[in-house]
Amino acid sequence: PKIVLAYSGGLDTSIILKWLKETYDAEIIAFTADIGQKEELDGLEEKALATGASKVYIDDLREEFAQDFIYPMFQSGALYEGQYLLGTSIARPLIAKRMVDIARAEGATAIAHGATGKGNDQVRFELGVAGLAPDIEVIAPWRLEEFRNQFPGRAEMIAYAEEHGIPVTASAAKSYSMDRNLLHISYESGVLEDPWFDASADESKDMYLLSVSPEDAPDQAEYLELEFEQGNCVALNGESMNPLQVMEKLNELGGKHGIGRVDMVENRFVGMKSRGVYETPGGSILFTAHRKIESITMDREVMNLRDSLITRYSTLVYNGFWFAPEREALQALVTESQKNVSGTVRVKLYKGNVISAGVKSPVSLYNPDIATMEADPTQAYDQGDATGFIRLNALRLKVASGVSQNN
Ligand code: ARG
Ligand code: SIN
Repeated sequence: PKIVLAYSGGLDTSIILKWLKETYDAEIIAFTADIGQKEELDGLEEKALATGASKVYIDDLREEFAQDFIYPMFQSGALYEGQYLLGTSIARPLIAKRMVDIARAEGATAIAHGATGKGNDQVRFELGVAGLAPDIEVIAPWRLEEFRNQFPGRAEMIAYAEEHGIPVTASAAKSYSMDRNLLHISYESGVLEDPWFDASADESKDMYLLSVSPEDAPDQAEYLELEFEQGNCVALNGESMNPLQVMEKLNELGGKHGIGRVDMVENRFVGMKSRGVYETPGGSILFTAHRKIESITMDREVMNLRDSLITRYSTLVYNGFWFAPEREALQALVTESQKNVSGTVRVKLYKGNVISAGVKSPVSLYNPDIATMEADPTQAYDQGDATGFIRLNALRLKVASGVSQNN
């Protein structure tokens, strides 16, 4: 049989590669999605082959990730539990999609991954596969008792790696696990499991790869202009860019100014709370700027409706329901809501902050003539009308207040 394995080159998936091959007497096709992990991809192909893969796919999916996943999600204003920009969550369905394509092309009957049985990623991978290819079997070694018995801890894994000539890299010794892509890096487990552990302290500085800490950011603020077209950022400082280029440039600028670090305890889909630390430099700038351009271009009730769905949308992405009818229905509403969201936002990047420094749009709904406290030349608003408006809105409050006073 052939099995397509989502392979990262880390200790877990290296061991899984070898273990699957031995246990199922299968041909293992290692697949790595290049979604912006940078140096993590160095030497990966050689490593997979040396570990026993019969074939290796390392596919550059960065443009697709930015354009078809990150951008549509940012149009929705998604933010999980008020803080998390969903950097890992949004990447999983894309990986699942490409794995299904490869499985089809290779005639593989199963897909395997190295996510644990306690996390969100297993759910996201497998719901993704289910939504796209219900006939494909999924193998999750960490959920198999035999596998867990064989590898109760890291020591056994490292011993197995040495025994089988699997190179163990320095990252295997790290006291936390990370997940990197174009949108973020997440850090979890190990020392971070104690929520009182201060991940912002100097001693933790080495952990962060995308950003400096705000204390170390330049003393000089940096201006940046973001141009939006229908809810998507299409240019930075007047230079047109595709979504991938935008994300890369924003990451560079945000990282330099210490923007986008989040440290939170979140609720996993499988039930437990979990502590995560995130670096999302570019995404944080984009998120703030997008809100800003919406503020002058979006109708109040459309915004209200879209905003009321942010929790729903974020939860769907977090829980792995990307290829699901309800996400697609919500997306249609989100896309519609962005039709008029065009214009330019100016921000100042300064020591971890994205500071508003101006907004303009050729299709702005903001009308200074109507809003002004000076004489209104348009006569569109008659202050006298407000009397009746307030009186009608007050009616039920007066009735209710009368009733409660009588009790
Ligand atoms: N807690 C985050 C999420 O569920 C990050 C998960 C990180 N995954 C990983 N394999 N390290 O989206
Ligand atoms: C894992 O459990 O494999 C990583 C964390 C998560 O998926 O939530």
